[in-house]
Amino acid sequence: MTALTADDIRRVFLDFMAEQGHVIIPRAPLIPRDDPTTLFTGSGMQPLLPYLLGAEHPAGRRLADSQTCLRVQDIDEVGDNRHTTFFEMLGNWSLGDYFKQEQIPQVWTFLTEKVGLDPNRIYVSCFSGDPEHGIPKDEESAGIWARLFTEAGVSADQVEVGTEEHASEVGTGGARIAFYSDKNWWCRGGKASEMPVGEPGGPDTEMFYLFPQVEHDPAYGEHCHQNCDCGRFIELGNSVFMEYRRTEDGFEPLPRRNVDYGGGLARIAAAAIDSPDVFRIGLLHPIIAKLEELSGRSYDDETRAMRVIADHLRGATFLAVDGVQPGNKGQAYVMRRLIRRAVRFAFDLGLQENFFPEIIPTIAQIYAAHYPEVGEHAEFVQRVLAKEEQSFRRTLRKGLKQLREYRESGVTGHELFVLYDTYGFPVELSAEEALAQGIAVSDDWRAEFDGEMAAQRARSQQSTTLHV
Ligand code: ALA
Repeated sequence: MTALTADDIRRVFLDFMAEQGHVIIPRAPLIPRDDPTTLFTGSGMQPLLPYLLGAEHPAGRRLADSQTCLRVQDIDEVGDNRHTTFFEMLGNWSLGDYFKQEQIPQVWTFLTEKVGLDPNRIYVSCFSGDPEHGIPKDEESAGIWARLFTEAGVSADQVEVGTEEHASEVGTGGARIAFYSDKNWWCRGGKASEMPVGEPGGPDTEMFYLFPQVEHDPAYGEHCHQNCDCGRFIELGNSVFMEYRRTEDGFEPLPRRNVDYGGGLARIAAAAIDSPDVFRIGLLHPIIAKLEELSGRSYDDETRAMRVIADHLRGATFLAVDGVQPGNKGQAYVMRRLIRRAVRFAFDLGLQENFFPEIIPTIAQIYAAHYPEVGEHAEFVQRVLAKEEQSFRRTLRKGLKQLREYRESGVTGHELFVLYDTYGFPVELSAEEALAQGIAVSDDWRAEFDGEMAAQRARSQQSTTLHV
């Protein structure tokens, strides 16, 4: 079968879910509506939180969508073959309806039959249990996987590995089904021990794709395994069996047992074309090709810069579509940081003049077919982003020059504040830039910078008071 594109995969997923009785719901904006605890929608389940906790969803108990997400925590990892800050998560939910016995075969059918992935290259992980809190090892999921693998004529050996660190020390021996502890517990924020009281979570089972063309890199641990970060295995998605809620001293069962499946569209599309590099898929490659055309440089030579620009401008485009404008606080500041970081990387590509007007239409065109709001707001997005590019470019060169003057002295939060205040360099960008140029950065730069900011706020409040 010819490899499906990311657009095909999104459509095939939603059609398959509809056939299985799911109602397809629209994506929620990147800015959560009623959730002040987090800046961005960072997973498909986030807009559904009240329903996972027990409220009735108006569309029923089987739902599916493709949710746009932004995870800025991953910003420093953008540049490798698979991390992006912006991504689309294919999701489906059972709100107290079906559970493991139906869901695992469903995701298997989607990956192997609908997308056409090779069952021999799919590996999984399951939860090894939490005896302290009385949460059992997930033998049931492992048993379902073992049956599916065996029916497909694939080995189905199981291994207990515990923590990720332990897995890289002892290896999994290539076992198809590996039991991990913390890695197979899913909740927002990641760690069971850090869950606030009332937060839902549960064991999950994760699916990975093996790219044998990628050699294991021992820098990530002696042995490779499902969760190794070397890039040989790429996680395609996970099914969370969300049946617990955090209490003061442990967990209690939720009123209903839910399933929360999330699949990374870009990663599944990369697996479909057998590319360990997600930037080769149809949603990203046209942006890279445009960057090659504009800069006259090649992706092979400028891989990291082009990946960062493509990722950040996609995120900034969707933020603008969802009504955010660059600014100095909260979501607006993150947007500013994404845009300015993209401009900084473009500078190194020799793109020293404004190029957003050339590239944003390429991004809009990729997404407008599935998300009509991207087409509808294209002109506005273009204006907002271009304005920010222009204003940063006016001072970029001077700011970089100023930074170089600190070569001997190094920088503290004070110099980083000057760069922020005078040239509009987001503080994280300056710190990163200084390190890249071999300029010493004080350990406490963040606290020092925050102190300067607070002092400036106090000064401006004082002057406002004096003038009224
Ligand atoms: N909520 C799960 C995730 O975001 C599916 O990975």
